[in-house]
Amino acid sequence: MSCELLSMNDFRLLRDLIERSCGIALGTGKAYLIETRLGGLLQETGCPDFGALYRLASVDSSAALRTRIIDAITTHETLWFRDSHPFAILSDQILPKLADELRRGRRAPVRIWSAACSTGQEPYSIAMTVQEFCRKTHGIRPEDFEIVASDVSPAVVATAEAGDYDVLSMTRGLPAELRDRYFLATPMGWRVRDEIRRLVKFRQFNLQSPLTALGHFDVVYCRYVAIYFADTVKANLYRRLAELLAPRGHLFVSAVESLYGFCGAFEARTYAGGTYYATRWTEQGGTPWEK
Ligand SMILES: C[S@@+](CC[C@H](N)C(=O)[O-])C[C@H]1O[C@@H](n2cnc3c(N)ncnc32)[C@H](O)[C@@H]1O
Repeated sequence: MSCELLSMNDFRLLRDLIERSCGIALGTGKAYLIETRLGGLLQETGCPDFGALYRLASVDSSAALRTRIIDAITTHETLWFRDSHPFAILSDQILPKLADELRRGRRAPVRIWSAACSTGQEPYSIAMTVQEFCRKTHGIRPEDFEIVASDVSPAVVATAEAGDYDVLSMTRGLPAELRDRYFLATPMGWRVRDEIRRLVKFRQFNLQSPLTALGHFDVVYCRYVAIYFADTVKANLYRRLAELLAPRGHLFVSAVESLYGFCGAFEARTYAGGTYYATRWTEQGGTPWEK
């Protein structure tokens, strides 16, 4: 350990607390993350070292300090239309089939979940994709869709819900045409327009909690979050996502993640240079989580 405020024992205690709370696994080489990201909480709480911070978090019945610790340790990096193919696939492959079912009156509104939404760029990119699809597709309305966006961190959920973005973050992946159509210029930057915002329902939600409270989904975006989880936590999450997804549901993970070896409930498909996953549920008639 490079810092005298973090002993190996305190590192282990905080590492286990973090993994129990949100699934994030910190290897020994990641002790610096505790030092750099939780250092501010030492000053804020008046704790002399990380052991004292751990003890305070352990006896905090409101869980407020544990939430702050998770908030500080998590990586919130995100951008608009990240990796691009998950949005092209939604528009070109998934929405046309769902639109057919909607037109035939065969289904309830389409439900899409951004399961680790950070500051909102992912769910608003989904909402813009849906709006663009509706603009070009006869008989399909934005009201036919419900997008749920959640994150373990209440701070990023509040930022996402506010829908205000500075000029710099607007330059990261958002085409000018969509910015001009779906955002209003403000003195501080840009604000997402109501027609996009009302498509998205935000909530704080920990992926370690039972998913059943959320209902079923047709499409789940679970990207750049499970990469931080231990393999057993990851496999368990994908199994639970398979149960949550409607028959013939679809899952997107990030460009640097794969379900290979973690969950046999999905089959991989490729389109436009990107991979996405479809549940095997109806095709094979078996339980989706069997390998
Ligand atoms: C790197 S961001 C990814 C944001 C977005 N999905 C994207 O691809 O751009 C990861 C997010 O996962 C959230 N997160 C980490 N652990 C989580 C958990 N157990 N439950 C829900 N969200 C979690 C973090 O708070 C963070 O905002």
